[in-house]
Amino acid sequence: MILVTGGAGFIGGNFVLDWLSVPSNEGVINLDKLTYAGNLATLASLKDDPHHIFVHGDIGDKELVAKLLKEHQPRAIVNFAAESHVDRSIHGSAEFVNTNIVGTFNLLECAREYWNELDGSAKKVFRFHHVSTDEVYGSLSATDSAFTETNSYEPNSPYSASKAASDHLVRAWFHTYGFPVVTTNCSNNYGPYHFPEKLIPLAILNALNGKPLPIYGDGQQIRDWLYVGDHCSAIREVLDKGKLGETYNIGGWNEKANIDVVKTICAILDELKPLADGKSYVDQITYVKDRPGHDRRYAIDASKLERELGWRPFETFDTGIRKTVKWYLDNPVWIEGVVSGSYRDWLSKQYN
Ligand code: NAD
Ligand code: DAU
Repeated sequence: MILVTGGAGFIGGNFVLDWLSVPSNEGVINLDKLTYAGNLATLASLKDDPHHIFVHGDIGDKELVAKLLKEHQPRAIVNFAAESHVDRSIHGSAEFVNTNIVGTFNLLECAREYWNELDGSAKKVFRFHHVSTDEVYGSLSATDSAFTETNSYEPNSPYSASKAASDHLVRAWFHTYGFPVVTTNCSNNYGPYHFPEKLIPLAILNALNGKPLPIYGDGQQIRDWLYVGDHCSAIREVLDKGKLGETYNIGGWNEKANIDVVKTICAILDELKPLADGKSYVDQITYVKDRPGHDRRYAIDASKLERELGWRPFETFDTGIRKTVKWYLDNPVWIEGVVSGSYRDWLSKQYN
């Protein structure tokens, strides 16, 4: 077995589905707290799959984590569980500290105790894969080189500070205890099952619902977009062949300004779902107040991963974004399930 945390979220859910689509892979114990971002509908196709054991719980629950490790004896842990939305971390950071820092600490401690008790070969193969973000490196100017693994940590939001803290804990557990870890720092993901608080799914759904497409500030902030399936394939490579104690950057070589991302979405929707009045979805674009402390530019240099493990992304931005828009058009039932009352409360808190 492998233990996946946060496997009902966007990336964790895609990872579990990908992993279990390969029959020779081990089964998955999926530990998820089912916060507003966790969604069992994402995992509906695994309902009768005996290789998937879903456990509703918190990575901060020491007894539960210790029990799961003892019972299922996983050969690896992949830690996706986190509070992940920068804007929510600005409104309130307590849950970010609880899950991203204290929760990761708890998981590390339980895993270390478990690993200490393993015998020779099981102990040798075990690894803890911590899933992190490029945001820990801070913000780049237009002319700076892309982030490499040796960039210093300069997190700017409560979210990125909490992720940076968790990365430091993971690093320290390797250096101090010899605990077998790998960390990956990935750029912005997009794709199926993405909760529509984030820019790309928000823009798609607002466009379809005739609502404004909110662009923070001048819309010239740059993100480096990676299709979620490529993030999953990179994690599989690192889990399999990554060197213990190392960190690997993962990115798509797709730097785009936010306004261009939203205009691309509008152009695809104009083609696939034209408006009855012949207008373009672009007319719905609305500039709104900027995010406080908004990082200007992220860019990932993923050449270490390519050089050492031979990984390259499969999708370009053009192919990935088209697939993504189509997925949202084809999956109204999943969308209906996530746009609940609490989601509407969030939209009015953030945008009104
Ligand atoms: P998400 O918010 O969609 O999902 C997070 C999942 O974690 C949810 O299912 C939630 O219920 C679960 N969770 C939250 N707190 C928990 C707890 N205490 N115990 C157990 N489960 C808990 O997030 P995501 O976008 O899928 O991101 C997954 C990971 O990847 C995060 O660690 C994030 O920092 C990292 N990351 C995300 C991106 C991105 O673009 N989304 C990019 C790089 C790295
Ligand atoms: O870089 C990796 C990170 O990418 C992950 O670690 C985070 O978990 C993930 O949420 C994402 O963070 P961002 O803040 O970059 O993603 P978001 O989709 O929230 O915003 C993308 C850009 O779009 C950012 O510059 C803010 C802007 N934006 C966002 C929203 C929601 C807008 O202009 N309008 C919006 O309504």
